[in-house]
Amino acid sequence: MRISVYGKGHVGGGLADLWEQAGHEVFRLGRNGGDVTNAEVVLLAVPGDKVAEALGKLQGIKGKTVIDATNRIGIGPPEGFRSNAEFVKSRTNGPTAKSFNINFAALYGRLKEARARPSNLWCGDDAAREIVERLNRDAGYDPVYTGPLENAADQEELIRIIFAINKGGMGTFVYRIAPPEKL
Ligand SMILES: NC(=O)c1ccc[n+]([C@@H]2O[C@H](COP(=O)([O-])OP(=O)(O)OC[C@H]3O[C@@H](n4cnc5c(N)ncnc54)[C@H](OP(=O)(O)O)[C@@H]3O)[C@@H](O)[C@H]2O)c1
Repeated sequence: MRISVYGKGHVGGGLADLWEQAGHEVFRLGRNGGDVTNAEVVLLAVPGDKVAEALGKLQGIKGKTVIDATNRIGIGPPEGFRSNAEFVKSRTNGPTAKSFNINFAALYGRLKEARARPSNLWCGDDAAREIVERLNRDAGYDPVYTGPLENAADQEELIRIIFAINKGGMGTFVYRIAPPEKL
C-alpha cells in the first residue's frame, strides 16, 4: 500500500518503520507537509493542537482515507467539533478513522514479546475499515472496532485513563481486548 505518514516523531516514525518492514511503500512527511496525491492512505501523527495547521500544508488530501492518530492532551477539540477526527473529516471529506492514539509508540518494537497479540482500538467510517484493519495487523496489533466516527470523541478521551494507568505505576503497557478463548 502507498502510505503517506505525516509526522516523523515517535508515532509517525515508528509506524513508518513497521509498515516498511511489512512491505508497504511509505512516504515520510515532516512538519512542512507535502503532496499526498499518490497515497492510498494518510496517517496523521502531528501534535493534537496542530491538526488544522498541519492539514493546511498537505496538497491532494481531498477525498483521501485518513487515519488520525492524534491525541488532545489538556486541550479541547477544535471549535465546532467533538473530536479531532471529525474535524479532519470535515476538511478532507474522505473515509476517516481514529486509530493508533490508544497505545504507546515506545513499545512498537516490543509487540512481539507479548504472549497474545496486543489490541489497538479504531473507530470510523466503514469505507476505511479494510485499510485501517490491515495497517493495524501489519504493525503488529489486532484491531478492535469501537464504532463509527461519532465515537472518536470517546476514543480521544480514553487517553486520560491510559495515562492514569501509566502514572499509577504500570509505566508503558500493551493491552488486549478479546473473548476468553483468545486471551
Ligand atoms: N508518543 C506516543 O506514544 C503517542 C501514542 C499515541 C498517539 N500519540 C499522538 O500522536 C501524535 C504524534 O505524537 P508523537 O509522540 O509522534 O509526537 P512527536 O514525536 O513530537 O512528533 C510530532 C511530529 O509532528 C511534527 N509537527 C510539529 N508541529 C507541527 C505542525 N505545526 N505541523 C506539522 N507537523 C508538525 C513534528 O515535526 P518536527 O520533527 O519538525 O518537530 C514531528 O515530526 C500526537 O498527537 C500524540 O498525542 C502519541
